[in-house]
Amino acid sequence: MRSLHVLGGKPLFGALRVQGAKNSALPILAAAVLAEGVSVIRNCPWLSDTDAAVRILREIGCRVWLDGEALYVDSSGPVRPEIPEGLMREMRSSVVFLGPLLARCGEVRLSAPGGCEIGARPIDLHLLALRSMGAEIEERGGTLNCRAKCLRGCRVDLPFPSVGATENAVLAACLGRGETLLTNAAREPEIADLQRFLNAAGASVSGAGSSVIRVQGVKRLHGAAHQVIPDRIAASTWLAACAAAGGDVKLYDTEWRHYRPVLRTLKEMGCDLQTGENLVRIRSTGKLKAAGPVVTRPYPGFPTDAQPLIMAAALRAEGATAFRETIFESRLRHVPELLRMGADIRTEGRCALVWGVPKLRGAEVRASDLRGGAALVIAALAAEGETRICGSEHLDRGYESVETSLTELGAEIERKEDRDG
Ligand code: EPU
Repeated sequence: MRSLHVLGGKPLFGALRVQGAKNSALPILAAAVLAEGVSVIRNCPWLSDTDAAVRILREIGCRVWLDGEALYVDSSGPVRPEIPEGLMREMRSSVVFLGPLLARCGEVRLSAPGGCEIGARPIDLHLLALRSMGAEIEERGGTLNCRAKCLRGCRVDLPFPSVGATENAVLAACLGRGETLLTNAAREPEIADLQRFLNAAGASVSGAGSSVIRVQGVKRLHGAAHQVIPDRIAASTWLAACAAAGGDVKLYDTEWRHYRPVLRTLKEMGCDLQTGENLVRIRSTGKLKAAGPVVTRPYPGFPTDAQPLIMAAALRAEGATAFRETIFESRLRHVPELLRMGADIRTEGRCALVWGVPKLRGAEVRASDLRGGAALVIAALAAEGETRICGSEHLDRGYESVETSLTELGAEIERKEDRDG
């Protein structure tokens, strides 16, 4: 096992390119299964979750290769509708293969997905959507056996705008018979990105980005070329890091319109923010003030993925910042670790009240999920002395290389082999 060692107290300066969006790239790789032929995905971030998606694609019979910066997926050969349990457990996004495999093969067998431990993460809404389209789904001993000779277009009213369920429903409906109308759909920019890829592949999807999505089923899709949108949570991470540590950082290849609530909160905390075309600049003295309550909501509300990041930035802010996590049931697992660094946080259920402290101190902490791990890195950058963050592999699910990016900005951060395993 390896851990990240951060020597805090240094402000961040410089410019950073923002990687492609993980949460766009993963469903688009699953969509490539539907697009019979060769698809070319550009700006695909290279992450452990991407690697897991590529292994799933190869396992089911697709050819996948990298040429320069572009990832190629050839799904023109026969596809095997089964994903082994080991691969399913590697990440949550493995579940977005369900819709495409069912639509393409008429059957699929897989087990429950893995992913970050931030709550129960059921897939009932994914199954509701597929059942409405006529799929027969049998759940036995953690295995799902799904069958649908022909998926038929229908109306699906999602009780909650789940991102994954929206994606699975859209993916399955692309090859369905007739029109599918999805209401209360998730509105995340990553869903609009998926729509762009699918339409380039010959699908007929409209409305993504709003809460009503229409999919007119077509007979088949073909390979397509696509450029993945920039990652709004990676951008939020670098901004929160600069806010906490102080400094002057420019982000390029970023779409600031995708993370307005994060920018608003950082401004309220006293950061100077400027936005331009594909550009954001942040200047921070590192002396922040508490912002109004941060309540996570589905897009376009405050993103749950940025809650731990902003909490880390608020640890030394003057005053009290209240956080309420409404999306995931246990997404405050970074709190006990932040307390070890001298933070003052009181929690009750899914709420946390952060009282700014004058100083944080380096400590030994453990990341237990991706964004919680990023929060520990941010706190470590603002702390005095050295912090050792175990569980650094969680960060590799979502950041191409957290240490390379932050070193470029002048941080002292290194990954080391653990002596004690
Ligand atoms: N939910 C259900 N039943 C379902 C599906 C979801 O109850 O069938 C619940 C979940 O348990 C959760 C809530 O609905 O409490 C939201 O889940 P959603 O389905 O919207 O999230 P997801 O598709 O599992 C994606 C991102 C997450 C991000 C959430 C919310 C990907 C691969 N993951 O997850 O990203 O937090 O949307 O925006 O797109 C991350 O990048 O760190 C990350 C966790």
